[in-house]
Amino acid sequence: MPAGRTHGAPRIDGETLLAFGTRLRAWYRRNARDLPWRATRDPYHILVSELMLQQTQVSRVMEFYPRFLERFPTLEVLAAARETHVVAAWEGLGYYARARNLHKLSRAVVREGAAAWGDPPSNGRATLPPDAESLRRLPGVGPYTAGAVSSFAFERRAALVDTNVARLITRVFAPRLDARRARDQKRIWAITEATLPRTGKATWVHNQALMELGALVCTARVKRCGVCPLRRLCKTYQRRM
Ligand code: ADE
Repeated sequence: MPAGRTHGAPRIDGETLLAFGTRLRAWYRRNARDLPWRATRDPYHILVSELMLQQTQVSRVMEFYPRFLERFPTLEVLAAARETHVVAAWEGLGYYARARNLHKLSRAVVREGAAAWGDPPSNGRATLPPDAESLRRLPGVGPYTAGAVSSFAFERRAALVDTNVARLITRVFAPRLDARRARDQKRIWAITEATLPRTGKATWVHNQALMELGALVCTARVKRCGVCPLRRLCKTYQRRM
């Protein structure tokens, strides 16, 4: 897709898209928190972190994530466990459908994975597919999680939008879009895709940075425009008077 083509969303010029990404990633390099799931590229470990983070605060996930992975270090160990034990290890995080789906996913991948995407695990270990489209076919994996695993584990050039990213993107580029409307959701995804850098490696940083700026600076409760690297490009900031 050429720069600035965003399917019904406001047209954004290439220079603005480039400046957005460059500033965002430079800010991340200086301000990112040191979080355990940022120090790994293990697809299963990243999937677990992303599922936990969907409805639970970072500080709480930090308590449960290492414990869960100690108990179930690989997809094979998880697949061999009983569902009740997996749900018990999730105790305290709530939204147990996430644990049940994760368990179901591990069994699907361990039993059928290689056949399903024609890629036999070379070292005899089950793994996840690298592309967002195949990831989305797995139990409990929506478009956000698929983009997160593809970019964070495989360093693929895949977009991700959750409520935090949607808020950031609408505030900067399109304050009139409403993330609760399906039509606008599509436009928000299109804008987010248009901001992606060229390479998968830079996409890893870009996507972590979108999450981080949404968590630390451009939050639902407060807009910390005084420390925001995107202030000069931001439509919401420009219209603040
Ligand atoms: N929330 C969801 N994914 C996250 C990530 N990779 N880092 C911080 N917060 C997140």
